[in-house]
Amino acid sequence: MFKRTRSLRRSEGMRHLLQDVHLTAKDLVYPIFIDEGDFYKKEIPSMPGQFRYTMKSLNEIMNNVVEAGIGAVILFGIPAVKDEMGKEAYNDDGIIQKAIRYIKKHYDILVITDVCMCEYTSHGHCGILEENGDVNNDITIGYLSKVALSHTKAGADIVAPSDMMDGRVQAIRSLLDQEGYQHVPIMAYSVKYASSFYGPFRDAADSAPSFGDRRAYQMDFRRQKEYLIEAEEDLKEGADFLIIKPAGAYMDIIKDLSDRYPVPIACYHVSGEYAMIKAAAQNGWIDEKKIVMETMYGFKRAGADIIITYFALDIAEYLKEC
Ligand code: PBG
Repeated sequence: MFKRTRSLRRSEGMRHLLQDVHLTAKDLVYPIFIDEGDFYKKEIPSMPGQFRYTMKSLNEIMNNVVEAGIGAVILFGIPAVKDEMGKEAYNDDGIIQKAIRYIKKHYDILVITDVCMCEYTSHGHCGILEENGDVNNDITIGYLSKVALSHTKAGADIVAPSDMMDGRVQAIRSLLDQEGYQHVPIMAYSVKYASSFYGPFRDAADSAPSFGDRRAYQMDFRRQKEYLIEAEEDLKEGADFLIIKPAGAYMDIIKDLSDRYPVPIACYHVSGEYAMIKAAAQNGWIDEKKIVMETMYGFKRAGADIIITYFALDIAEYLKEC
């Protein structure tokens, strides 16, 4: 005797009935880069199909996102001037603050903001530097709180710190509470690896470190259980969502954290993961649509509630066709 498992796969009707992993456009978050420069939009060479937008073109992409029924956008700002301290990050009239106000005024969609210093500092590191080139943790978390507050005042619905400093969730939570923003949740990039999959993003956001790398604050992928400490600590400090980043090479962690904690779990399908699919598809080596959908269902199966992906608009289209 053997079990005829194939009998449950025989027809499209059977497969349709038995599908138990679901994906909708509402589960997706679309990252948008907003540049303070004076142009309409510029394609990002290492991310075909993705653009740097400006205040002139923001409405074009926002119309598409809202039309597609995407759950939220996550915004990244590229300021015209950068300095040692990343001052533009918390300028209430900075590019990102303007973009948040514009979107919240004209569209009915959730706005998440990436809270970090790397797009705003002249050296490209995620915080304030000491003389020896180290990022000073405790000074940086004060700045990150100011950044988060400034985003919140501009209308951000959720703030997402992505710097990997210790204690930043607590610092942001307490400043937001103190200023009357108890209701604004924190989506923490809790498990963020020092990853080469971020390569194209650094072109997109012009945020590559001018010296060294981020291994002194982002996590080492050669360690097994460190993510448990990071996730637990962020939850204790007040994180409302957890982000795992990158996604594809870290599905074990998505699965474990979603089994372990009853909080919304997000994964970030990052720039390098996007670029690899695009490049192979452009060569005709893979079927882009099928690979994208298989990847997304993989994240859902692993337990991701929310997927941050540059493919969000394409997926929304594909879902309509199914
Ligand atoms: C900012 C930040 C990065 C990404 C998201 N937020 C870059 C980095 O940490 O170097 C990467 C996203 C992507 O690669 O798509 N710190």
